[in-house]
Amino acid sequence: MFREVLQKLIDYYAEVCSRRGSPVPPSTGVFLCCAAILRGCRGLIVDVGAGYGVSTLFLALGVSTGGLGRVLGIEVCREKLKFLRAKARELGLDVFIDVVRGDVKYILKALIRPIALLFLDAKKEEYLDYLKCAEGKLLRGSLVLAHNVLWPRLYVFAEYLRCVMDFQRYLTTVLQLDPAGVSFTVKIT
Ligand SMILES: C[S@@+](CC[C@H](N)C(=O)[O-])C[C@H]1O[C@@H](n2cnc3c(N)ncnc32)[C@H](O)[C@@H]1O
Repeated sequence: MFREVLQKLIDYYAEVCSRRGSPVPPSTGVFLCCAAILRGCRGLIVDVGAGYGVSTLFLALGVSTGGLGRVLGIEVCREKLKFLRAKARELGLDVFIDVVRGDVKYILKALIRPIALLFLDAKKEEYLDYLKCAEGKLLRGSLVLAHNVLWPRLYVFAEYLRCVMDFQRYLTTVLQLDPAGVSFTVKIT
């Protein structure tokens, strides 16, 4: 079952690419799935900029292995969310996913539950704003993953990376899971 869904997700990735979406590639998707398995039962998993849902679905696949935890996908585009919902139903992952349409910043501010894992993949210039909106809900050990920190516009992330590399509240390294790169941050206090 897991293998079958994984294969369908990889097929969905190709379909989303053909629609000119910008989904995370399978290498990063599998990493998100692993991270969700490790963090799933400790709070909410939030996918910031869910798009057509490739990242949301990989995260939900991870959560599904333990049956505990939920993924919240936030996306501004109604059309993309239609695809996400339909694919989640088809793969039987809809029971692990909540979807909210709107601006990430407002939705993150309004959340009251602790966030176990925050995945950032919306507007690159706004990553620091997203982090600030979520900060009060991140606990010691919460994970913040940010896509595209290496490519295509490395310079956009200077302030975000300075913040998560402060060695006081956060510990961060950058992983080259795909050419775009993913920063891997753990909240340490
Ligand atoms: C790179 S795509 C996300 C791809 C997705 N992570 C995946 O793997 O399929 C970025 C998405 O963020 C959405 N987005 C950008 N700014 C946003 C905002 N302020 N609030 C909500 N969604 C936003 C865009 O509509 C776009 O679909």
